[in-house]
Amino acid sequence: MPTRILGIESSCDETAAAVVADGREILSSVVSSQLDVHRKYGGVVPELASREHLRQIVPVVREALLQAGLDFADIDAVGVTQGPGLVGSLLVGVTYGKVLATELRKPLVPINHLEGHVHAVFLEAHLEGKVPELPAVCLIVSGGHTLLYHVQAAANSAGGNGDAATRGFAFRRLGGTRDDAAGEAYDKVARLLALGYPGGPIVDQLAAKAASGEKFRDKDAPNFGPVKIKGNPYDFSFSGVKTAVLYYVRAHPEFAEEIEVRKKALLEGRRKAADLFPSCSPRTLAVISKFQSAVVRDLVERTLEAATETGSRTVLVSGGVAANSELRDRFTSKAAAKGISVFFPSRALSTDNAAMIAAAAYPHLLAGHLAPFDLNAEPNLRLA
Ligand code: KG4
Ligand code: ZN
Repeated sequence: MPTRILGIESSCDETAAAVVADGREILSSVVSSQLDVHRKYGGVVPELASREHLRQIVPVVREALLQAGLDFADIDAVGVTQGPGLVGSLLVGVTYGKVLATELRKPLVPINHLEGHVHAVFLEAHLEGKVPELPAVCLIVSGGHTLLYHVQAAANSAGGNGDAATRGFAFRRLGGTRDDAAGEAYDKVARLLALGYPGGPIVDQLAAKAASGEKFRDKDAPNFGPVKIKGNPYDFSFSGVKTAVLYYVRAHPEFAEEIEVRKKALLEGRRKAADLFPSCSPRTLAVISKFQSAVVRDLVERTLEAATETGSRTVLVSGGVAANSELRDRFTSKAAAKGISVFFPSRALSTDNAAMIAAAAYPHLLAGHLAPFDLNAEPNLRLA
């Protein structure tokens, strides 16, 4: 009989629940996004996020069980995101998880959200029957995080003879952003240019359109990179690129008119790339595409450098920004030249979800890492 874990995720602005069998088979995965609530503010509003989680958690968990064809009684354990994240949001999931596990008399497994993102890559790989080799270097890149870890299979856990997804992982932090997360920089640049929220997907699509269309001319905008930082070569910094874009836009008053046109389109709900593209001047497209190149090149170069330096032949990339097309293409081509394999989750598993939390809970359940009675949310929880 497989071990079926109900995963619960509420660290930021998605309320999610999923059932995963033996840490590798997704029986259901339900994500309720709060995008429509936060969109008009151009970012996640913490108070509104916790209120939405409260509204959604019960129906989302019910739906996850329904889709898996299971009852509460069929669940073997509950895995819940303990942190990092927004404290009010985390508390909804942690409190609900505690009450549910107590009521069902089932173990509760606290999970680090970042560890979940690593499991997302393995979940996808299991689906495809191709499991990443360890040790690996893992880049977690989202709206809240840009972190680089060295990942090995955990040395001694109950699932000792199994693969890494059963044994769990051991992490060593190599570096992280000193200021903005990469996704945050995308969101801020998109806001500056009136491209809507979240910025990543639309910038991604417009940059692709720019690359393939006649509107783009390289000389229309300066290069915004490379990103210079002293000290740890595996640290990141994106606020300089973001500020360079800001100064460039301010220095060119001709941006103002098209920004107003797009603001109007967004207010009317026309927020797709096809709606916004016509009002984007060649110069705007050049800014978008050069901003993206600066960020993507930096992420890819530092990560591959870390892989080479640590003798890792595998790179794992997870988090919302892992959905980016230029990032995927550049990683794949640059890594191949170095004999490194790169693994990404599907887009659905890249962004926040609960399947990755249920998968991460499995090795911890086997190893007996259960929640204490007084488990609390940890907004600043670290992985290593
Ligand atoms: O992992 P996620 O869903 O939530 C957290 O931040 O934890 O990531 C959301 C972030 C946002 O900043 C969004 O703009 C970015 O990921 N993002 C992208 C893309 N899709 C989402 N960034 C670049 N290209 C994309 N295609
Ligand atoms: Zn996340």
